[in-house]
Amino acid sequence: MDLCKSSLYTALDPTPSACHGYAFPPGFLWGAATSSHQVEGHNRWNDWWAAEQAGALVHQSGEACSHYELYEQDFDMAQSWGHNAHRLSLEWSRIEPVEGAWNPEAVAHYRDVIRALKQRALEPVVTLHHFTNPAWFTRRGGWLRRDSIERFARYVEYVVQQLGPEVTYWLTINEPTVYVMQGYVNGEWPPFVRGAWGKAIQVCYHMARAHVLTYRLIHQHHANARVGFAHSAPWVMPCRAHKRWDRMTATLRDCMLNRAFFGLMGNRVHGRRTPAVHLDFLGINYYMRTLIRSAGWGLGRILGRACHESHHTDQGVLSDIDWEVYPAGLRAILNKFARLGVPLLITENGIATTDEPLRCEFLKRHLTTLAETIEHDRIPVLGYLYWSLVDNFEWSEGFRAHFGLAAVDYATQERVPRPCADLFAQVCRSNHLSNHQSTF
Ligand code: BGC
Repeated sequence: MDLCKSSLYTALDPTPSACHGYAFPPGFLWGAATSSHQVEGHNRWNDWWAAEQAGALVHQSGEACSHYELYEQDFDMAQSWGHNAHRLSLEWSRIEPVEGAWNPEAVAHYRDVIRALKQRALEPVVTLHHFTNPAWFTRRGGWLRRDSIERFARYVEYVVQQLGPEVTYWLTINEPTVYVMQGYVNGEWPPFVRGAWGKAIQVCYHMARAHVLTYRLIHQHHANARVGFAHSAPWVMPCRAHKRWDRMTATLRDCMLNRAFFGLMGNRVHGRRTPAVHLDFLGINYYMRTLIRSAGWGLGRILGRACHESHHTDQGVLSDIDWEVYPAGLRAILNKFARLGVPLLITENGIATTDEPLRCEFLKRHLTTLAETIEHDRIPVLGYLYWSLVDNFEWSEGFRAHFGLAAVDYATQERVPRPCADLFAQVCRSNHLSNHQSTF
């Protein structure tokens, strides 16, 4: 790797310097990510759709980005940007719309999708569960039931038998902790249960066991598969470092969000480095730093609250959905999870903004940090997948969050590439981040 002698963020300096930037490891995966419910449209057999129709959610996904029909066009765009990988999710509710009954058309569709990726030399990274469940699964008690593990495993086994030979990289579950917090603690997502800590722990446990079981299943069918899950990894810090309660609350929140799930699946993130079990790699979804302020004691308050006041001199700007831009957190997070001793794959990183220079800056700073982390800290990273390929349905935020490398005109479904997509393309094509990368 070409060692850049300059300090952190020098790549932001628009003036040419002696530094030639960084080369990424050979075979590095470059691309973007999506998930089925957010882009496909008309996912009428899942629990989100049911909640949207019942008016339990403010926004409706509707036809979303019509990606179910337009996937080839979207992949052409990714290919034209020099991507060599793409993350997508399979919609369980399309494959098993009724309990125990498979839908061959959906499987044929996903087979075509994966082939379309391969024809364009895009390595598929396939997520098996990205927040949505079949409506029948939720009706019968969802992840609260112990047999949810077998139900999920039955679906995974079927999928792997059908599509397995075509896919190397599998992510069993996307962001289990976010799913649990939003569904059983904050009560903002289906099944809208609020403050139910006991249930939250139960669901977490079932998801961890489901991961372990499906990890084994996938390997039984395909010894060469590489299996992980995608972890939402905020960099958690106390808001006022001199306040003991803020420090304690931040530590507690970090335990809940960044450690507990690993413990349930038999791994330790903290302390001595031990070889991870049931993970060939870990997907890291990194977006932000969360500054935590104590909110007092009691079950509902114990995790504190996020603070946006500027108590820190290095406070970053906020995105359109109030997430702090904090590239240094990526380095800290990669170092933290490197303790697992498995390679890491950035499965999501991006910003919701309509300020395109800010998006470009976000990307450059995070890629610089990533390159520095690989180079200086010797952390094995397999690739970087930007969230998201196109603007899409951002869950309870609806369509107001603009994460895409391309904007979408939802009236016509036209894709409008953003300048940042070109900046990213330069890096993807060259596998290199230079200081002279064009400025926008
Ligand atoms: C999720 C995506 C979501 C993104 C931006 C991640 O938590 O996996 O589905 O769109 O963050 O909010």
